[in-house]
Amino acid sequence: MKKITVIGTGYVGLVSGAGISDFGHHVTCADIIESKIRLLKNGEIPIYEPGLHELVDRNVNAGRLSFTTKVDEAIQQADVIFIAVGTPQSDNGEANISAVESVAKSIGKNLNSYKVICTKSTVPIGTGNIICELIRENMVDGGEFDYVSNPEFLREGSAVKDFLWPDRVVIGASSTKAFNIMQDVYRPLYVNEKPILHTNVATAEMIKYAANAFLALKISYINEVANLCEAVGADVHLVAKGMGQDGRISSKFLHPGPGFGGSCFPKDTQAFATLSRKKGVPMNTIDAAITTNNIQKTRMVEKLKNLIGSDFSGKTIGILGLAFKPNTDDVRESSSIEMIQSILDEGGKVKAYDPIANKSMQNIFTDLNYLHSWEEACDGVDAMVIMTEWNEFRGMNLKKLKKVMKTPLVLDTRNILSMDKLSEYGFQFDNVGRKTVL
Ligand SMILES: NC(=O)c1ccc[n+]([C@@H]2O[C@H](COP(=O)([O-])OP(=O)(O)OC[C@H]3O[C@@H](n4cnc5c(N)ncnc54)[C@H](O)[C@@H]3O)[C@@H](O)[C@H]2O)c1
Repeated sequence: MKKITVIGTGYVGLVSGAGISDFGHHVTCADIIESKIRLLKNGEIPIYEPGLHELVDRNVNAGRLSFTTKVDEAIQQADVIFIAVGTPQSDNGEANISAVESVAKSIGKNLNSYKVICTKSTVPIGTGNIICELIRENMVDGGEFDYVSNPEFLREGSAVKDFLWPDRVVIGASSTKAFNIMQDVYRPLYVNEKPILHTNVATAEMIKYAANAFLALKISYINEVANLCEAVGADVHLVAKGMGQDGRISSKFLHPGPGFGGSCFPKDTQAFATLSRKKGVPMNTIDAAITTNNIQKTRMVEKLKNLIGSDFSGKTIGILGLAFKPNTDDVRESSSIEMIQSILDEGGKVKAYDPIANKSMQNIFTDLNYLHSWEEACDGVDAMVIMTEWNEFRGMNLKKLKKVMKTPLVLDTRNILSMDKLSEYGFQFDNVGRKTVL
């Protein structure tokens, strides 16, 4: 079994580290944020991710998983080092790889034996060369390493399942030795006949961006189809069903909504588009997906205004759902941010509720009125908006909802409420790409 160090203990690093330790390897998860490591050492999980607590506990108790802020020591003791730090968007649209570069320098300085250096962070095509260069510049003579790109495809909300049962594992390795070591790391998956795709580094880096951008494109496409459905009286859900039953298309990522958010699609599409322009091969489809997504977010704000029949000044709006998707506490680039900001900008008030993400959103909107249930968030409001399709909103008691709201106006940006029931109880409502009762 290998000694593995994962640098960066966020959504990807923590899930990957815990998952790899579950394969039987000895894993150290390292991060520079002391408070995060302290929590983990105390048996607490800093993020919300179904099944993660159990996975971490199991492997900590088995003595295979530990946490540290001593990044240098963690590098020295490892056979394989995974880089899983953040790569947020820069002001110019490119991915900011400064954290990756900083880790590469530390790896160079602490390269005391042959190691495989493996990047899991999503990095622009060509970053592998930069990382290798930085390691070489910082290492003492005789240091030896191989470089691998191993992009991660897990989805927040089902990250543990996605990591342990992936559709495929992409390993971009230019040396057979490194590829074989990586195969050993993933051996338990390999035994289960999960396909391992061996590519060169640039191809592996490209696969990640091409896959994410394609999924974003699919979402923007169905959102535009939904908008046209509204104009012609079609139902986007049946359209999506009819499309998805075609095996060439598949039903995944054909759900209309308020525009994609999260920590990946917005920044990865921007980085991909920016890189393509830089290389003189602009990707017009991705530019269009980004533009459509921005328009979709604004469109939701306009829909709410139409429903209310005025701007937001003096109005109180209940916002249900803050996370960018259900089963996560991640609010990065969530569509709810633009909705809330627009309401506040026009002098409206917001009562917000998310089953898990109230705390995360406090980092963005410090003074918002955060409530502990949907009933509280809808009490006395002029309108209610569903921004995230949490299960508890799907089953909400509409009779009760009507009773607590000041005015029965509902904007369901996730199309999770029954239109028949909304009509039956006398709501005026709107949604995305379906029948509207205004
Ligand atoms: N979140 C996802 O669903 C997802 C899925 C696939 C790929 N990715 C990619 O994986 C990467 C990580 O994403 P994330 O969502 O886990 O990010 P995150 O922000 O949740 O976690 C990053 C962690 O890296 C730590 N870090 C930063 N600099 C460090 C350093 N020098 N040394 C040690 N630790 C350091 C931070 O403290 C933080 O805990 C990104 O490139 C992202 O695009 C994310």
